[in-house]
Amino acid sequence: MINSPLNYSGNKAKVVDQILKHFPENITKITEIFAGSAIISLNSNIKNIVLNDNQKTTIQLLKYFNQNSGEKIIQDIDQIITNYKFTDSYRKGRKHYPEKKHEGLSIYNKEAFQKLKQDYNNNPTTEKLFALNIFGFNHYLRFNTKGEFNVPVGKVDYTESLRKKTIEYAEVMKQKNLEFYNYDFRNPKLYEGATENDLFYFDPPYLITDAPYNASWRETDELDLLQILDKLNSQNIRFALSNVLKSNGKENIILKEWATKYHIHYIHRQYRNANYRRKNKSEAEEVLITNF
Ligand SMILES: C[S@@+](CC[C@H](N)C(=O)[O-])C[C@H]1O[C@@H](n2cnc3c(N)ncnc32)[C@H](O)[C@@H]1O
Repeated sequence: MINSPLNYSGNKAKVVDQILKHFPENITKITEIFAGSAIISLNSNIKNIVLNDNQKTTIQLLKYFNQNSGEKIIQDIDQIITNYKFTDSYRKGRKHYPEKKHEGLSIYNKEAFQKLKQDYNNNPTTEKLFALNIFGFNHYLRFNTKGEFNVPVGKVDYTESLRKKTIEYAEVMKQKNLEFYNYDFRNPKLYEGATENDLFYFDPPYLITDAPYNASWRETDELDLLQILDKLNSQNIRFALSNVLKSNGKENIILKEWATKYHIHYIHRQYRNANYRRKNKSEAEEVLITNF
């Protein structure tokens, strides 16, 4: 199992096996319409992968990992760490940076991060974007209406574990045939020429949960998506849809009623935090809906 160094918000890393076990065997191509960090298709044994996301920067980052070796990417980031004077706990050790309260490394990196953010917004490059993702709060990728990166500094730096993920993630991409698109999910080009050996995987923003990219997802988007899935089904094309039917006391009624036509598989999360687990056990209902 490989994980992404992007720590993409809302990623499926913790439930990869529970999703992949439902995938049919005779699939020659998978299309991830809402790719994010593409953790599902990259962990599958399907060689031909189409990755689409309407967020331009997400596709840029995926291409960066596809086109460069992990070693080269680590070199790029190390260069930024040196130039901007970010903390380097990987080489200097965590004890080199005594922590105050629960701020982690944020107090040490605040200034460097501000400068990098400014430089990125004036002259964006993918290396700078990945560095902002590493040092930014919760590894969010969030932009204001002018398209400027606007996440505050985070608590961590480029750890050994993130470096290992960088190598593995870049490596797995080299073993696949990848195609990238930066379209809205409604774009017909994404579905052209699909056959019975194709699988379409959808992990859209969820109507009833909070993530930076969920805010602009409306009921009309949800309805358009369900219509596309019905159309694929009528053409005998297989699809799998990740979503939540219930979360934090809210219920997605539209989806729940629509899903009765198909197969609903329940996904079980293991929460490390006991309080969170207790609170969510009865409430969150994460599912994979398939037409096979
Ligand atoms: C839940 S995330 C996918 C996470 C992914 N499964 C992973 O494991 O990393 C949803 C993604 O859909 C993208 N997205 C949002 N609206 C979209 C649209 N209208 N068309 C295509 N992609 C969209 C977001 O940019 C985000 O990357």
